[in-house]
Amino acid sequence: MFAKEVYIARRATLVGKMGENVPQGSRGIALFIGNAESPAQYWDNAYKFRQDSSWLYYFGLDIPCYAAVIDLDTAEETVFADDVEIGDIIWMGPQPSVASLAAGVGVLHTAPSGELGNVVARAISQGRPVHYLPPSRWYNTLKISDLTGIPVAQVKEKSSDSLTRAVISMRLVKEQCEIEQIDDACALGYEMHTVARNNVKVGRIEQEVVGIMEGVTLSKGWGVSFATILTQHGETLHNHLHDKVIEDGKLMVIDAGAENNMHYASDFTRTLPTGGRFTTMQKDIYRIVCNANELAFSLTRPGITYREVHLATARLMLEQLRDLDLVRGDVDEMVSLGIAGLFQPHGLGHNMGLDVHDMEDLGENLVGYDSNQIRSAQLGLGSLRMARKLVPGNVVTDEPGIYFIPALIDKWKAEGTDRGFVNYAKLEAYRDFGGIRLEDDVLVTEDGARRTGPYRLPILPEDVEEAMGNALS
Ligand code: GLY
Ligand code: MN
Repeated sequence: MFAKEVYIARRATLVGKMGENVPQGSRGIALFIGNAESPAQYWDNAYKFRQDSSWLYYFGLDIPCYAAVIDLDTAEETVFADDVEIGDIIWMGPQPSVASLAAGVGVLHTAPSGELGNVVARAISQGRPVHYLPPSRWYNTLKISDLTGIPVAQVKEKSSDSLTRAVISMRLVKEQCEIEQIDDACALGYEMHTVARNNVKVGRIEQEVVGIMEGVTLSKGWGVSFATILTQHGETLHNHLHDKVIEDGKLMVIDAGAENNMHYASDFTRTLPTGGRFTTMQKDIYRIVCNANELAFSLTRPGITYREVHLATARLMLEQLRDLDLVRGDVDEMVSLGIAGLFQPHGLGHNMGLDVHDMEDLGENLVGYDSNQIRSAQLGLGSLRMARKLVPGNVVTDEPGIYFIPALIDKWKAEGTDRGFVNYAKLEAYRDFGGIRLEDDVLVTEDGARRTGPYRLPILPEDVEEAMGNALS
């Protein structure tokens, strides 16, 4: 946990934001529901516990079945949870009291869980607004429904817009203590990828590499920050199958990150030549992705929108794909028609922090778009999850990719979606190419940007080949 002053200051800022332009006496209460254990098969065999990220941000306590209320008119804060009894102690060992845990994050008042319903009911009966965040877990959805009387199906839509926006505005700008945690998670992510790279060997099964790589973060951190992607079929963007034997001459996409013990994420992608050397054809495409990654980083600074950075990388890709005669024609027209989406049907990046896709549970558009930005419907640009004007403290991923997806190529060809810009005859040779993605994590600073973590994974094709050649067999 951070020092209790961190949580006290965050909650005070939140209360301040929730009071802006709302007269005292009519601000209501903010209800926070921490996560509960989630059974894997039966109640006593639960998935590994992961606390709700907004709960962690404001209350820090990494324990199931906690809740809290902040009275937005008086700033009084109460944590609701139950002290353990002998029945629990037998299985869990002695635990600190709820009061002492709450005091550790600067909350002075505590009450048993059963009291929460009365507090919410009283607020409702007095006509006071009950603000809560949109829940993503079903337990929390049911709990909020139970507490407020809102039907389950309406819990999400009736969540508090003002609370959600206030939380997003805070979590989007990382504090120094958070940046240190992200750097730590990135150090772990670097180590994961280094171990994976050293273990990519022709003849092995992909799953072996996954196991060795995930062992790194399990031995030093909480685990992985999302389900690992490690595949020779990188043209499937989120391919979670790891059942193939590693063959020579393929491209291995490894998109994996660590969650450290404070629950901050890293998210890196590297694409390796399975036999240790890229073919000329692979290297030509790889360099384009590498150039796009570098261009995005060089443009990332306060004041630019990440939408502009995404579009600049789309333009670079189309220019350089045109040099390979894979597309033909005017690049400006291709950019505006979204032709890059055939090759990169995803966005350039997303926010990262306590979640690898930070706060997407609170609403992708609220998190990733300024109020004057409208999300595109184009393939690729429409999947851009972070489009906002950048400010110091934002942490974003820089993850361009080029993929050759046979089903998508066929669809565009059949439907004429490319308006004549794509050279399908040349594209035929790339049908079993796979895909390439290269991803770094980037902090926006006062005057530019820096990549997070102490070291950068090799990315230039020559450096990747050298690193693979140096791996101990
Ligand atoms: N690293 C997986 C993703 O960004 O979707
Ligand atoms: Mn990512």
